[in-house]
Amino acid sequence: MTAGSQQVGSVSGPVPAAEAAALGPPPLIPLPPLVQLLRFRQRQIEFVFRARRQIGGRFSMRTGESVAGVMTGDPEDVRSLLAAKPELAPSTAGESPLRPILGPDSVLTATGARHLRQRKLLLPHFHGEAIERYTAAIAEATEREIDTWPLGRAFPLAPRMQAITLDVIMAGIFGVGAQPAPGTAEHRLRTVTRRLGQFTTTAAGQAVEMLNARRHEPAAPARPILSMIYRPIEALVAERRAADDLGERRDILSLLLQARTEEGEELSDAEIRAELLTLILAGHETTANSLAWAWERLTRAPAAHERLLDAVRSEADAEAVVEQTIYEAMRSRPVVPLTGRRVTVPWRLGPYAVPAGTGVLISILLVHHDEGLYPKPFEFRPERWAGRRPGTYEWLPFGGGIRRCLGASLALAEMRVVLATMTRRLDLVCAEPEPEPALHRNVTMIPRRGARVVVLSRR
Ligand code: HEM
Repeated sequence: MTAGSQQVGSVSGPVPAAEAAALGPPPLIPLPPLVQLLRFRQRQIEFVFRARRQIGGRFSMRTGESVAGVMTGDPEDVRSLLAAKPELAPSTAGESPLRPILGPDSVLTATGARHLRQRKLLLPHFHGEAIERYTAAIAEATEREIDTWPLGRAFPLAPRMQAITLDVIMAGIFGVGAQPAPGTAEHRLRTVTRRLGQFTTTAAGQAVEMLNARRHEPAAPARPILSMIYRPIEALVAERRAADDLGERRDILSLLLQARTEEGEELSDAEIRAELLTLILAGHETTANSLAWAWERLTRAPAAHERLLDAVRSEADAEAVVEQTIYEAMRSRPVVPLTGRRVTVPWRLGPYAVPAGTGVLISILLVHHDEGLYPKPFEFRPERWAGRRPGTYEWLPFGGGIRRCLGASLALAEMRVVLATMTRRLDLVCAEPEPEPALHRNVTMIPRRGARVVVLSRR
């Protein structure tokens, strides 16, 4: 159990203001605001675990003059926030660092009625039958990519995983069957997206991210970069709007162009651009880095790697062991380590309480390393999932409630296919034995060296 979840009277949820005032907020992190900000941004893993050891699983953070918000890793708090009526604990997505990039109108950044409308429109295209249609594209992209990897030489897996996940999301959005031909807008979009992804891991990219922080509109240096990605998207939207076979097409762009809201309105070009960019950005790097982390962990956990190899190659229990490995990888290295809600009424968090208007960050990392939920949480043990399904408020790589990741089923389908195919076809080891530290980029946490591996042989 964490210090936080051991507290007496651990109840969470809305309370009268007087009760909240009497209980008071969780203890402040005993560090100067600037040090907190830097440690939180650069070394979130060490930051949250140290805070939990020192002052418990709920704490207040001060990153400026005043209290910036409260962080919790307590499963009861999480349940209270994610299961609450959205108007009592709306998402902080509108304040997200993604807002200057995606604008205020995308399903990821919008709140209230607009969010629900966009979510309802998109959700069916990422569930059930729709996912089955993606599976062939995933397997094809994976086989194609694996064949190009070098043997006996170290390379980072993350960009290779990104090539696969970008192919998959582009196929879903634009209905591109094979790889797009050079000179087409699809090809330009893919090239720009990959370059931008690489740029954001550089010092210059991180500086642009800092400039964008807490802004609603992109900072000046970010604008020309964004227009590089907007242009090919706009060209694709215009091209598709004019297509003769629009009515017969089943890709997401065509469906968005034909969609009508309950009031019979169509989406504007700017709205469609925002949704497409959201799906591309939210939909490929997260999945790619989740896979990269899975291999970063597996290649340093010989027993787990061996168990996966045995299951996949002997086809005995393969599906179950692949699933357990994915659950464990996403538990131990959640690519999105935080999700936020802003309470609109006073809220009790176990023995503490915060006033209306407080931003409460849910530390997915802390929940995933709660000893009460996961004994020996720092060990990578996929077998802990044997006969166990992830709990809604205990395993949160995709967040939860009405903001739960729209692409979770697609991401899991991709992870299953890629993990199983790589396991079947490749003998690989980590390039260096030391674990890779995390690099925090925008809202994600990715392996700093890109999960470097050496492929010893390919089947
Ligand atoms: C392993 C891969 C992925 C991870 C770890 C991940 C994680 C997340 C998380 C944590 C959230 C926020 C949930 C919350 O606030 O409670 C989210 C939202 C979202 N994700 Fe994902 N995601 C992944 C893949 C994808 C894919 C493949 C797509 C593309 C379809 C996608 C599209 C979205 C969208 C549109 C939202 C906003 C949903 C809303 O606010 O209603 N994600 N994701």
